[in-house]
Order: sequence, then structure tokens, then C-alpha cells
Amino acid sequence: MSPDELRRAGRAAVDAAVDHLAGIRDRPVWQPVPASDADWLADQALPEAGRPLDALVADVRARVLPHPMGNGHPRFFGWVNSPPSPAGVLVEPLAAALNPSCAGGDHAGALLERTVVRWLAELVGFPHVPGGGLLTSGASMATISGLAAARQRAGREDGWDVREEGLHGRPPMVLYVSAEGHSCLRKAAELLGLGHRQVRVVPVDARFRLDVAALRSRLAQDLAAGLRPFAVAASAGTVNTGAVDPLDAIADVAAEHGLWFHVDGAYGALGAGDDGLARADSVALDPHKWLGVPVDCGCVLLRDPALARDAFSLVPAYLRDESASGLGWFSEYGPEQTRPFRALRAWATMAHLGRAGIADLVDRTVALAHRLAKLIDRSDDFELLAPVTTSIVAFRHRPGPTDQGLDELNRAIPAAVQRRGRAFLTGTRLGGTDALRACILNPATTEDDLSILLDEIRAVAR
Ligand SMILES: Cc1ncc(COP(=O)(O)O)c(C=O)c1O
Repeated sequence: MSPDELRRAGRAAVDAAVDHLAGIRDRPVWQPVPASDADWLADQALPEAGRPLDALVADVRARVLPHPMGNGHPRFFGWVNSPPSPAGVLVEPLAAALNPSCAGGDHAGALLERTVVRWLAELVGFPHVPGGGLLTSGASMATISGLAAARQRAGREDGWDVREEGLHGRPPMVLYVSAEGHSCLRKAAELLGLGHRQVRVVPVDARFRLDVAALRSRLAQDLAAGLRPFAVAASAGTVNTGAVDPLDAIADVAAEHGLWFHVDGAYGALGAGDDGLARADSVALDPHKWLGVPVDCGCVLLRDPALARDAFSLVPAYLRDESASGLGWFSEYGPEQTRPFRALRAWATMAHLGRAGIADLVDRTVALAHRLAKLIDRSDDFELLAPVTTSIVAFRHRPGPTDQGLDELNRAIPAAVQRRGRAFLTGTRLGGTDALRACILNPATTEDDLSILLDEIRAVAR
């Protein structure tokens, strides 16, 4: 390949990306992929001979870019998926041009990750020590990393080594999560061999926040039964309603009982505004959510990184690095060995926005969520199902005076709205009823977009 061929195709690729981003508002939010392109996307044969780069860019323009998931659009309100930051899009090819493994070593990729992790800690008000965190594929992996460190610490405190012995023959370790905790907590507990039976699901209060009195009472029961409570996971922004658990009160319980205090701030850490987060032993947060860093980019912040290193470090002879700093390699603090250059897209996103720009992004989207809540409150045919604390609004459509059939109606609404292509939202179950939820992460969303969302719901319900 000649540099000129790459330069020419690269310019065409940049044009395709910019045309895509610039035209998003004028296209449907999402549409099912038509059969001809779906076949091309899913069922291609491996070509015998290679093809030129500009032909590949043409394919991407014609067959890939027209079929987005929808999360770049200002009327995408589904799950927790943001549009990509322009700075993150810009630097992606540059990260690929270097293509390092950020397992560790003395190169830009590994060094820049130190800055990014420190910036993230600063942004969410978490005390940072050198080596106090690493980037991950997402909050799921961040959670596994944090809870693995917790499990290792608990074993050490009891005089044994989980890595050496496994969990056999020891009192079962118990993890406490809220009923509104994300499913990644259960997955982590299962993967770490704790068993789902050892995950205590603590009820929530009327605002969908973990009930601290219930946590205390479950703990007392488990201690009386001879079990080994070892960690509690709180949420700084739940996925259903954006609720922030009473972090300080939970930190008090953790401190009293020697529990590891994990905070799931995957979605909400940036907007949680709760000082209790600073008391966590580990925090999972996702720059690929509110910040808009292109997927993937999660992060685990660690109060005492030596505990994560104790849980993961394994340095065979072929990975020894005599010139590494005292912190060693990132791969000693988590499960991944070869690690992508996530730091460049995260750095570019934060450097482009600055602290003020990030605060604006959060404030703007939270204000829009309050605006949507107000529209819902003022209407006769919608009702709020939870208070708005971050940028998620949980609500339901209630076109008539009766509750009959409301679950079926609200369960059917998201897919019907999605198919029309003018807005995109998803649903959930909340407090025993089917709910709609709108998660606002796009700085380009306007108040008109919120009204269109409600009108779309009305239209499909009719
Ligand atoms: C509150 C919360 N926690 C954890 C996760 C899992 O994060 P990831 O998908 O990045 O692994 C999500 C994802 O939406 C989330 O919203």
C-alpha cells in the first residue's frame, strides 16, 4: 500500500464520517436494516482477492453508515447510549495508527492513560493516588475488577488467599446490591464464583434508592448465620431512574462492618453530586456514557491500587519489564492483557470540552430531563414514575382514567415508537409496573425534541 492510497482513502473516510455526523438530525433516528443490506452485512463471503481501500470506504458509506443504532441522533433516548464526541471520532484513526497494546510499557498509550484516569477521578471527586485506576471495556469489566479486589482483600483479612485456594470450604462471601442495581453486579458475582445465592438484593425506598435500614437488617441476619459479608455495591445513577443511593450512609455501614464499598457510577458518577462517592473503595464509571467518549471506554477507580494488584498481578518471564515504574503494568490490575489505546479518545474528549464544557454538558442534559418531567406533569395523559435526579426520566402513558391494560400499552410503546423513526426510547419494569424511560445524554437535544417524543408516544398509542 502506498502512503498516497491511504491518504486518499483516509480523506474520503473523514468526509464520510463528517457527512454522517452533520446529517444525523435530518435522517430517521433508527430504521430496521433492509433485507438486501442486512444480507450484505451479515452473510458476506470472504473475498479471495483483496480490494482497494477507496472501494472499502465506498462500501462503508453505502452499506454501513446508513444503518446506525440511533444513538447519535438528538431524539435517541434509549438505554444509556450517548452520541460520540467529535474529538473522540477525530482521534480514533490516530490511535489505530499507533496501535499499541496498553498492557503497560514506556509509550504514549500507557502514559496518557495515567492522565485520563487522574482526570476522571478529579471530575467525580474521588481521591486519586498514583496507579489508582485503569480504563476498561466498560463498567461491567470495571465491576469485575473492583469486586475481585474486594474478594481478595476479604480472604486476606481472614488469613487465606482466594487466588490460591478458590472459594472451597470457606464461609460464603456475601455481596449486597440494591433492587435497582445494574445486572452487571450479578454477572460479576457469578463470574467471581460467589454464586447468585450469595447476592443479597436489598429493597429500595419510594425514590428507588437503596434502603439503608434494610441493608443493616440483612447484614445482621447473614452474620448471625455465619456467612461472610464482604462488599456492598451502591449506585450513583441507576439505569432505570437515575437515582443516587445514599452513598454516605452506605459508606458508614461499610466502614462499621469492614465491607468493601463499591459505587456503580457507570452512568451517573459525573452528575451524582454526592460526596459519599469519595469514600468508595472502587468506583465503576463509563466515559463512553455521559461524556460521549466513543465506545469502548469504561474505568475503575481504586482507593488502594495495591489491593487490585494483589488480585490480578501475574507476571511470567516473557512479560517481565525491568524498567517499569514501581506501579508496574496496567495488566497487573485487571483481567485484560492486551489493552486498546482507549486513553486517546477519552483524553481528546475531555481536553476538547474542558472542565467547564463537561459541567455544561451535564447541566444541560439534567435541565432537559427536568423539562421533560415538567411536560409530563402538566399533561393529562402521562405520569412520572420516579423523581428526576440525573438525566433519566421514568414515566408512563396513561391515556384514560383506568389502570386496566396500562402495562400492555406501555410495554408495546417503545418498539412502536422506534419503528416510526422519529424518536427512540426504551422501557423497563419499575415498582411493579411497565414503564417508559428516557435517558438524555445528547447536548444537541432541544425542548422541541422532548415534545416530539411525547407526541410520538401518543401517536403510536392511538
Ligand atoms: C448503571 C449502569 N451500571 C453498569 C452498566 C454496565 O456498563 P457497561 O455496559 O459499560 O459494561 C450500565 C450500562 O448501561 C449502567 O447503566
